[in-house]
Amino acid sequence: MEGINFNQYGVTFKGSGSYVPGQILTNQKISQKVDTSNEWIQSRTGISERRISSVEDNVTEMGYKAALTAIEMTNWDIKTIDLIVLATSTPHDLFGSAPSIQAKLGATNAVAFDLTAACSGFLFALITASQFLKGGSFKRAIVIGADQLSSFVDWNDRRSCILFGDGAGALAIEATNEFDNFIGFDMRTDGGRGSFLNLPSKKNKGSIVDEIDFLNGGFSPIQMNGQEVYKFAVKEVPLILEKLLKKMKYNSDQVDWLLLHQANQRILDSVGERLKIPREKILSNLEKYGNTSAATIPLMMDEAVRDCRIKQNDIIATSGFGAGLSWGAALIKWG
Ligand code: COA
Repeated sequence: MEGINFNQYGVTFKGSGSYVPGQILTNQKISQKVDTSNEWIQSRTGISERRISSVEDNVTEMGYKAALTAIEMTNWDIKTIDLIVLATSTPHDLFGSAPSIQAKLGATNAVAFDLTAACSGFLFALITASQFLKGGSFKRAIVIGADQLSSFVDWNDRRSCILFGDGAGALAIEATNEFDNFIGFDMRTDGGRGSFLNLPSKKNKGSIVDEIDFLNGGFSPIQMNGQEVYKFAVKEVPLILEKLLKKMKYNSDQVDWLLLHQANQRILDSVGERLKIPREKILSNLEKYGNTSAATIPLMMDEAVRDCRIKQNDIIATSGFGAGLSWGAALIKWG
């Protein structure tokens, strides 16, 4: 970090990685469990199948494997990583899973912590890590999005269980004093609408001794008002992206890729239409993975980087949104 002026730091994207568990739950298989059909799920969501973690595939394991593949794309010595931020709502350890990932990687010089913002989590983590880099505190960071919502889905609720899957993705980012590929961002929260999507703690009262009670740990399954979440997404996501593009003086035709949180193909199409971004520029892999919460954005980004759709200097407009309610957007240049 020596010799670099504080005000001159920018962010460069050096690597991407991902991991998905091997078990494939198709729409046909879900229809053996709840009253639904492949046709219904496909037409309402665009999802065909999703990955489900086995007992061994927890968030620490998935996040570690995604981070390792991102690091392999760089030429970094693992000991030079300063920061690991894990976005997750489903940690393997409620005290934090990022430290276990740090230990497994052998990134002994990195500080590592979890960040929870549901489906906005990866974007919020990327923005958080970028601020440390731009501020001059750290040089190299790994940002991971990993979730295992299959453990918290009500597998008898056909309105929500069809949507979610498990997986992990990661990006390796670095501070540079030559340019800034993290062009701009915006973040929002509206806790007043939080009841539309929750993974709440169980109201399970215990007693320690006479007159001293306590709340037993544990969570109830995901509760979702699908229609309200849908309306929120198709309204707020285009607004925040439009505002960001305007602020950074970009037109939507300068955007090479629209990379939205992969919640529902109809949401992706609607946002694309509103921003006048053609379908071929909208990245989508939710047909294969469904909504993997904090993992969707880096999982999609890694796929598109590896198959060479995303090229050096491509402009990517990205947006995460979901429970909280929270949402955000970032404009980045790959490379
Ligand atoms: N299979 C068959 N029928 C189903 C069904 C399923 N899996 N899920 C719901 N239905 C039925 C409902 O019971 C309802 O039947 P009714 O009219 O007889 O009462 C009908 O389909 C319509 O339900 P509705 O909830 O209005 O469907 P929808 O068009 O809003 O689609 C979602 C439901 C969940 C796909 C959609 O609301 C959505 O994607 N919302 C956003 C959710 C989201 O992205 N959450 C995560 C955000 S990060």
